[in-house]
Order: sequence, then structure tokens, then C-alpha cells
Amino acid sequence: MTSQIRASERRDGVAGFAQRLRTDTDVAHRETEQSRFVSALLDGKLSSDGYAELLAQSYLVYAKLEEAGRIHADDALVAPFLSEELLRVPSLEADLRFLRGPEWRASVRPLPATERYLARLDEVAFDWPPGFVAHHYIRYLGDLSGGQIIRRMLERAYGYKTDGLRFYIFEGIPKPKPFKDSYRAKLDTAPLSEHDQQRVIDEVNVAYRLNGQLFADLEADMDRYFVE
Ligand code: HEM
Repeated sequence: MTSQIRASERRDGVAGFAQRLRTDTDVAHRETEQSRFVSALLDGKLSSDGYAELLAQSYLVYAKLEEAGRIHADDALVAPFLSEELLRVPSLEADLRFLRGPEWRASVRPLPATERYLARLDEVAFDWPPGFVAHHYIRYLGDLSGGQIIRRMLERAYGYKTDGLRFYIFEGIPKPKPFKDSYRAKLDTAPLSEHDQQRVIDEVNVAYRLNGQLFADLEADMDRYFVE
């Protein structure tokens, strides 16, 4: 974590919404980060099929999230956050085709935690724009942050260059930092009441738990993915 004072840190010392969102979900982020599945993956200990399983579950989540995004295309709160360059479904499709072959779709089955994640998206991301923003933030800002570290570690551990790693490569966003700064500025000026800001924070904490449970499900099945 950087100790830099962010744009969202206002002059009067009161934290802006982006800063508050980050701080008030930091504990949940740390808990999610500590996944044995992710550690084994980043240490190069899992097979490419183990990695593909993470992408397969992610594919189901992003397909639902990006479907919800299309519904909100004209919504005043959501529209500023939507950006073609962020969309991950085409990259996930390409990675899964590369890793599992042309019949990859038949191999994609939701784990129980993914079912719960998808059910939550159905519940809050389609009819409630702040709920969509919460789920948009946690995935895409995460992919542009820790995701970029993961990308370099996967590159090193498995030798992937572009194929298999497209999920982590944002071709339209060559520099994540200014993009993330601008995203945080949008969070700061988003038309959200105090009450709704708190509900977004709560929903991001729920979403971290859902991501943690997804890692736990992958972890439960991890033995079959170890390479000798
Ligand atoms: C091994 C796993 C992970 C690592 C190493 C990691 C690492 C990081 C780091 C270093 C940052 C700060 C980047 C910056 O200052 O710009 C960050 C931010 C973030 N990460 Fe993670 N992360 C991991 C997993 C996750 C997961 C699973 C999620 C959610 C699904 C997630 C969501 C986020 C979000 C939303 C931010 C942005 C916080 C903000 O500035 O508002 N991360 N991550």
C-alpha cells in the first residue's frame, strides 16, 4: 500500500469517498489476499488447468457483471464508470480457448461459491445502481492493482506472455495509475448520499467475502492441480 496522499484526501483532512471505501474494506481485502490457492498458483505449483479453473469461475462472474453493466448504460451514477477497455469477457474467452481448447465452454461449471456470487449479483447489481458500482469497483480496480502484480508473477512462474494472460492485460489502459486515479475521482464525485456510500462500502465487504469463498472452493479441490 502506498502512503501517498490521494486526490480523495480533501484539504480539510476529511477523507473522500474513494479513500473511505479503500480504508473501510482494507481488512476484508487482506483476508481475501491470503488464499492458499493463489499462493500456490503464484509460486508456479499448480497446473495450467488449475489456473484455467480460476479463469473459468471468473468468466462466469464477469459475464454476469458485464451483462448488468449493459443494463445501466444510461444510468447517471453508473455510466461514468463504464468503459469498453475494462471489459474482461473477451479476454477470458481467449484465455480459456488457449488453455482448454475450442471446447472450453463445456468445461465451465460454477462452483458453489460462484453460484452464491452470481446470485448476489442478480440480487444487487441489476436493479440497484450503487450495488453495481460496488461490484464494478472491487473487480476492475482490483484487476488494475494487485492483478498487475499477479500478471508479472504468472509470467515468471509459467512463461505465459500474452496468450493465457489476456485477462490481466488491459490493452486500452497502458498505464493503470492515471486510470485508477481518475476512477477514484469519479467515486469522490459520484451522486451518492452518505447513506448510499455506506451501503456501497458494506456491499464491497460482502463482495470480498464472496471472492474469498470462491478461493476457498478452489482450494478445497486444489490437490488435483498440483504439478510434481
Ligand atoms: C494475491 C492476491 C492479491 C494481491 C497481491 C493484491 C494486492 C493489491 C495491492 C498491492 C493493491 C494496492 C495497489 C495500489 O496502491 O494502487 C491492491 C488494491 C486493490 N485490490 Fe488487491 N490484491 C490481491 C487480491 C485481490 C482480490 C482477490 C480482490 C478482489 C476480488 C482485490 C481487490 C482490490 C481492490 C478493489 C483494490 C483497490 C483498492 C483501492 O485503492 O480502493 N485484490 N491489491
